[in-house]
Amino acid sequence: MKADIKNRADIIILVDSFYTKVQKNLAIGPIFTDVVKVDWNHHLPKMYDFWESILLGKAIYKGNPMLTHFAINNKASLREEEFDTWKRIFFETVDALFEGENATTIKQKAQSIADLMHFKINSNPSKIKIV
Ligand code: HEM
Repeated sequence: MKADIKNRADIIILVDSFYTKVQKNLAIGPIFTDVVKVDWNHHLPKMYDFWESILLGKAIYKGNPMLTHFAINNKASLREEEFDTWKRIFFETVDALFEGENATTIKQKAQSIADLMHFKINSNPSKIKIV
C-alpha cells in the first residue's frame, strides 16, 4: 500500500517526478525545453507552491496560470493532444507514487484546471454569439 500525499515534501517528490517524465515526452517535452526554454530552478519551486496551495490550502502561490498558458499557446499550440498527454503523465505519476484521499483529490483538481485551461485557450470569443 502506497502512502498518501501529506505535505510539501511529498509534493516536491510528485512535481520533480512529473517534470522528469514531461521533459522526456515527445509531444509536450519540447514545449518546455525548446519553445519556452523553462528555467527549472524557477519553475519547480513555483509548482511546489502551486500544488501546496491547491491541495493543502496554503495560499503561497502567487501567479496567473491562465495568462501564462495563453502566452505559451501563442508560441506552441496547446490543443486536446497536448492536454491529454499532460493529464496522462500527471495521473500516471500520482498513481506510481501515492494513493489515498489527497492523491485522488489532486488528480481531480488537475483534471478540472486542465479542462478549464483547454476550454479557455481554445474557445474563440469572436465565435461565441451572445443574444
Ligand atoms: C498542454 C499542457 C501544458 C503545457 C504544455 C504547459 C506548459 C507550461 C510551461 C512551459 C510553463 C512555464 C512557463 C514559464 O516558465 O514561463 C508552465 C507553467 C505553469 N503551468 Fe503549465 N502547461 C500545461 C498544462 C498545465 C496544467 C493543466 C496546469 C495546472 C493543473 C499547469 C500549471 C502551471 C502553472 C501553475 C505554471 C506556473 C505559472 C506561473 O505562475 O507563471 N500547466 N506550463
